[in-house]
Amino acid sequence: MKKEVLKYINFLKDRGISNPVLEVQRFISEKFNIPLHKVIVGDFDFSEKLEESLKDFCEKRAKGFPYGYILGFTYFWGRRFFVNSHVLVPRPETETIVEFVLKKVGKGFKGTLLDCCTGSGNLGITLVKELVLAKVFASDLSLNALKVAKENAKNLSADISFIQCDKLYCFKEKSFDVIVANPPYVGIKEKNTLEKEVLNEPEIALFGGEEGYEFLKDFLFQALKVVKEKGLIVFEIGYNQSESIKNIAKELLKVQNLYFVKDLNGHLRVGVIENA
Ligand SMILES: C[S@@+](CC[C@H](N)C(=O)[O-])C[C@H]1O[C@@H](n2cnc3c(N)ncnc32)[C@H](O)[C@@H]1O
Repeated sequence: MKKEVLKYINFLKDRGISNPVLEVQRFISEKFNIPLHKVIVGDFDFSEKLEESLKDFCEKRAKGFPYGYILGFTYFWGRRFFVNSHVLVPRPETETIVEFVLKKVGKGFKGTLLDCCTGSGNLGITLVKELVLAKVFASDLSLNALKVAKENAKNLSADISFIQCDKLYCFKEKSFDVIVANPPYVGIKEKNTLEKEVLNEPEIALFGGEEGYEFLKDFLFQALKVVKEKGLIVFEIGYNQSESIKNIAKELLKVQNLYFVKDLNGHLRVGVIENA
């Protein structure tokens, strides 16, 4: 490890950043296109430009700016997505939805699919790239988020239609074979417990109501109308929300065919409704 790099790692460590070694090494590698193994062994030129950029990165990280916003992009299902402060930085656990849908519908799927609450477009764009015969739509209430998603679709040559829409209000009944969503589901009551970098992401992308599941309740009510018969609704939930969602689905929406899928950490993070 280069001693110049160590100085910045210690800077982040002293300011409570939980994985400073990895963050600094990844930043140098991703920003300057240097293979990570070379960064780790110190086989690169610690130029003035690199130091300036690393200093700026560390100062912003110390203030709580998310890693993805500073770098300007993140990876999702192996593809690079541009992100800015108008969208949530896509998380690895959301790839559970992609994995599940690909397995469930198969590569030859030719139906219609909607990614509601698309944000940076990560789910819809990934699914249209993998399911090349599908007709894919993506929606969001935020026009600024849709701008980011459109930019990503262009960069990744994804054939996808974008629509500004509040939840699913603008779609007709029985429109889609598959609806996927990573909706806002954090409870406003949990706001004080969130890390400061999460609080730098847009509120509209985070909070789903006082408890967190209120948005999901509305979303599911509408999705059950908008999905086709024998269609599929696949949605992300908070790690501790499966019981509340199960009750809402059974008692309020009279849904029997709901089950949950675990993410890589073993948490029930994806709800699935197979419409009868
Ligand atoms: C948790 S983020 C998910 C973004 C992206 N799909 C992902 O997986 O990273 C939720 C998204 O829902 C959008 N949103 C919030 N309220 C909405 C509403 N009423 N109708 C549609 N989209 C909404 C936000 O703008 C945000 O982009």
